Order: sequence, then structure tokens, then C-alpha cells
Amino acid sequence: MAAVPLSGAKTYSIAAIPADGIGAEVVDAGISVLRVLSRTLGTFGIEFENYDWSSERYKKTGQYMPDDALDQLRKHDAILFGAVGAPDVPDHISLWGLRLAICQPLQQYANVRPTRILPGTQSPLRRCGPGDLDWVIVRENSEGEYAGQGGRSHVGQAWETATEVSIFTRHGITRIMRFAFEVAQKRPRKLLTVVSKSNAQRNGMVLWDEVATEVGQEYPDVTVDKMLVDAMTVRMVEKPKSLDTIVATNLHADILSDLAAALAGSIGIAPTSNLDPTRQNPSMFEPIHGSAFDITGKGIANPVATFWTAVEMLAWLGEQEASEKLMKAIEKVCESGITTCDLGGTATTKQVTEAVIREIGEASG
Ligand code: NAI
Ligand code: MG
Repeated sequence: MAAVPLSGAKTYSIAAIPADGIGAEVVDAGISVLRVLSRTLGTFGIEFENYDWSSERYKKTGQYMPDDALDQLRKHDAILFGAVGAPDVPDHISLWGLRLAICQPLQQYANVRPTRILPGTQSPLRRCGPGDLDWVIVRENSEGEYAGQGGRSHVGQAWETATEVSIFTRHGITRIMRFAFEVAQKRPRKLLTVVSKSNAQRNGMVLWDEVATEVGQEYPDVTVDKMLVDAMTVRMVEKPKSLDTIVATNLHADILSDLAAALAGSIGIAPTSNLDPTRQNPSMFEPIHGSAFDITGKGIANPVATFWTAVEMLAWLGEQEASEKLMKAIEKVCESGITTCDLGGTATTKQVTEAVIREIGEASG
């Protein structure tokens, strides 16, 4: 086992932001696994800098992050994020104070959410095994329903009014569609489903559909179909095999990807990447799940979502071999039945982590 990376191997600098609840538990597990992988393979080095940006910090200082947070993050090659949200802070404060405060200014406009049924685990869908559900959801991550436009007036009155304005720009739609077509094109089926709601939402969503059609002409080898978001939930449940790559707005994909994770077995396995495809800014990698107050501190959080997140991070950094090795190790451990209770097992976070570490060692030994 090489103790240091081979000469010429690149060392990556990763900003770790565990934040709240089980975020700290799963990011710790992720860091241990990545360190072992780096030591075992010797093909890349990895260093972590920990940031204590969290709801605790907010409660003490009134700020989730310092003023120069984005400059600090820009020094790193990537960001590994846990989850943000605390029972005594309103969710819109925590989300906008940390996660969106990073994704939006760093223009991480493509949110990518692969979903598969891992070997040894079970979908709640009847007759749906590994291979029958293999999707990549591409979520627009910079505008749409989460653009933050709107306001409240007449607060506390019976005629109180609030608006939440969805923003759709040709620029924003074009870049996410190009990204989604490219993801679809690289997958064997070359099939992209564009999710919309242009029957009821006749402005932004119609522009969304029109730009999808225009961009699609640049990718004649990709088959495109369009689904209204409500019907999409039905298709995901009834015909999971008919889907491959999916592109949807910020809100729609947020909801559909939680459904996707549940259909694949558990929210505890699902990874997500917030990418700046221009690579001008570091991209951010995180499990889909939140801070899970109900299981925080119990040592039973499923670390697989964070491990799979690390797989995605390594692939983005160009470490394909390490990425594939880690995914294989995760699959082997799931197959062997060492899983946490969300997947029907009895293992702790630590036991799953140790099993993945053992597997990495054995695969290389
Ligand atoms: P959640 O994802 O934290 O939990 C939903 C359910 O899934 C809970 O029963 C939880 O125990 C279970 N679960 C989640 N991750 C798990 C794991 N790794 N292993 C085993 N079980 C797991 O969503 P919830 O309850 O809606 O939100 C809790 C807090 O997290 C809120 O403050 C919310 O705003 C925040 N949140 C933050 C996100 C982020 O930082 N990206 C994403 C979603 C929610
Ligand atoms: Mg969500």
C-alpha cells in the first residue's frame, strides 16, 4: 500500500462543510474513505480543509458564513457538503444562508442526480430490480422557482400577500439543456426526457419547452420526449425502465429526485453534484438527504449517499479509476448485506464505513 501519492499524481484540495445534523457524521465517513482510497491507490492525493459553517455558527454569530466565504471556497478544487437545517432555525433561513448562498453565486447551475438500485438492496416497486431503474436527473440549479424573487406585504393582516416569482431566462435554459443533452448523449440509450408544466404555466415553461426543442437540434442522435411533471410521477412509478436521462426545473427536479431516491430504495443512498460546467468555480458535492434530526447522533445514518457523492466528485476531478473503484466497493458492501436500517439492515454508519474501507483494501491487495 503506497503511503503517499506516486510522483506526478495530483493532490486535490477539498473544502469540507459538514454543517448540521447527520451532515457531520456522513462527511466524516466520506473523508475516511477518500483518504484510504488515496493511500491505497497512490494515483491521487487529497487534502481536506474543514469549515464550521453551520446553524450553530448562525445561532452564535448571526451568519452562516463569513463575508469572504466565496473567496475561501474558490481556493479549493471541490467542496464536499453534508446537510444544512436545524429544528430551531427556519428552513428558508438555513437553506438560503448556506447551500443556496454557495450554489448560486458560484454558478453551479447544473445539479446532477444519478439514481440506481444498488445490488443487494430493494426497490419498493414490485418486479423492479437492479438494472430496471437507471436514471440521471439533471436539475436546473440557478434560477426557476428558487430564484429568490418575490416579496411580502401587509404582513400579519387578513389581506397579507406574498409572491414567489419563477425566473426563466433563455441563457439559463439554454445552458442547462445543452448540459442535459450532453449527459444523455454519453449514456448508451441516448434518451432525454424533458419535464415541463407548460399546459398550466404558459410563459416560463413554454420558453423552457421551446429552448429544449431548439437545443435538441444540435444533438440529432439523442431521442427526446416531453412529460408534464404530474404525469412524470406516474411514469416513474409505473414504467421506470422507460426513462434514462431527465431534465427538469429547479423545483420539479427537487421533488422528482426525492421520489427517484425513494424508488431506488432509500434517500440514504442518493448523491448529488452541483456543477459549474465552465469550471471557473469549484463544484459542490453532497448527499441529497437533509440533516435528519430524527436520527442525528445515533450513529445509524447511511453513509452510502456520501460515498456515492465522493464517487461523483472523483469523476468530476478526472480520477476515473479511483471513482470506479469506490463505486465497486460500495456495491460489494451493499450486496453483502452490510447496510443501515433505512435499507433494511442493522449495521451502523461506522460498520458500513469500515466495510467499504476493507473492500477498497481487498480490491487493491
Ligand atoms: P431529511 O432528508 O433530513 O430526512 C428525511 C427522512 O429520511 C428522515 O426520516 C431521515 O431520518 C431519513 N434519512 C435522511 N438521510 C438519511 C440517511 N443518510 N440515512 C438514513 N436515513 C436518512 O429531510 P427532512 O426531514 O425533510 O429535513 C430535515 C432538515 O434538513 C430540514 O431542516 C431541511 O430543510 C434540511 N434539508 C437540507 C438539505 C440539504 O442540506 N441539502 C436537503 C433536504 C433537507
Ligand atoms: Mg430536496
